Amino acid sequence: MPRKTALITGVTGQDGSYLTDFLIKKGYKIIGVKRRSSSFNTKRIDHIYNDIKQSKNFIPYYGDLTDSSNILRIIQSTKPDEIYNLGAQSHVHTSFEIPEYSANADALGTLRILEAIRVLKLQKKTKFYQASTSEIFGNTEIPQNERTPFRPRSPYAISKLYAYWTTVNYREAYDIFAVNGILFNHEGPRRGETFVSRKITRAVSEIYRKKRKFFTLGNLNAKRDWGSAKDYVESMWLMLKAKTPSDYVISTGKSYSVKKFVEEAFKYINIKISWKGKGLKEIGVNKKTGEVYVRVDPVYFRPTDVDELRGDSSKARRELKWRPKTTFQELVSEMMKSDLKEIK
Ligand code: NAP
Ligand code: GDD
Repeated sequence: MPRKTALITGVTGQDGSYLTDFLIKKGYKIIGVKRRSSSFNTKRIDHIYNDIKQSKNFIPYYGDLTDSSNILRIIQSTKPDEIYNLGAQSHVHTSFEIPEYSANADALGTLRILEAIRVLKLQKKTKFYQASTSEIFGNTEIPQNERTPFRPRSPYAISKLYAYWTTVNYREAYDIFAVNGILFNHEGPRRGETFVSRKITRAVSEIYRKKRKFFTLGNLNAKRDWGSAKDYVESMWLMLKAKTPSDYVISTGKSYSVKKFVEEAFKYINIKISWKGKGLKEIGVNKKTGEVYVRVDPVYFRPTDVDELRGDSSKARRELKWRPKTTFQELVSEMMKSDLKEIK
């Protein structure tokens, strides 16, 4: 059988790099779309470039989701079997600062790829995966599944909702095998340092290594359904292997607060945290010594935040036979282990 080719946008990101590792092991050739940047942005995929065997399976292209001519040309010259659209301005808080750019990359970027598939008449050949998100649910019923109404609460979530419906519409209107993976938060050692999970594991590691005394966070009470990115990229591939295209929630089914994440990270270095005070005065202290390790800084508050995301992934478990393999405790331990190694 000829080898399958997969085009991945956002290949330099957390999920893009884990998906590349996963698909290369499955025998795929990867067309990796990366942005030009003024400094190196390929840290997460350098292990592929540097491995002679693996690098043969990886073809890099410069590309940007905001440039339709570029998207069209890459798809025209590579005609991939599968496209995974993981590229995005993915930071929710930042999307309030750059709403128009977020919409251009996240909403219109998705449209540009689907239009390219249509214009190039690749409907019968190319399957399309859209990186949708639990953020599209906003503050709504708990747990959330594929039938839960959407109430997005950020420019990021609104852009992703446009992309969600565009994917559904191109599936229905043009018979493209196009799916939305509605993934809940997923993390790992390669997570970007400004997302709360990695910010916490890095800061706790720095406290352990005596490089800092405390760190600041925003909304301590938000709850998220945190899973492992490595587990979640498998679901993307499974969705494109299904008989018929459909949209799937991918989640663990358990949610924990930001505070609980902090406690779990400190537990890894044998420190118990207790919380004192309220609102902006709330602090996280070392139960034994009284040292203050966590403070609140309103700079991290969002104009509108989502209180709790907890997913019901029974459809994916039933139809795709997918399930998460990593517990919350194992995830935090894996991230702490990696950051303690990195921060010497
Ligand atoms: P990430 O680490 O922030 O990676 C985003 C990737 O998109 C990076 O490779 C980035 O390139 C690239 N990118 C940004 N703007 C672009 C543009 N205009 N054109 C082309 N590429 C662009 O995000 P992630 O955590 O891997 O998430 C992957 C996708 O899943 C995103 O679409 C995200 O919104 C979605 N998602 C993530 C989660 C999660 O919990 N991780 C949950 C649900 C959905 P640079 O490296 O050059 O910045
Ligand atoms: N980033 C950040 N930094 N978040 C903080 C902080 C802080 O200092 N303090 C508290 N939080 C709270 C946020 O207000 C939010 O409620 C929660 O921690 C999680 O924030 P992030 O880690 O930034 O993730 P997110 O849930 O907003 O978005 C991530 O998950 C989405 C899926 O639900 C991103 O990966 C999105 O791209 C993804 O779609």
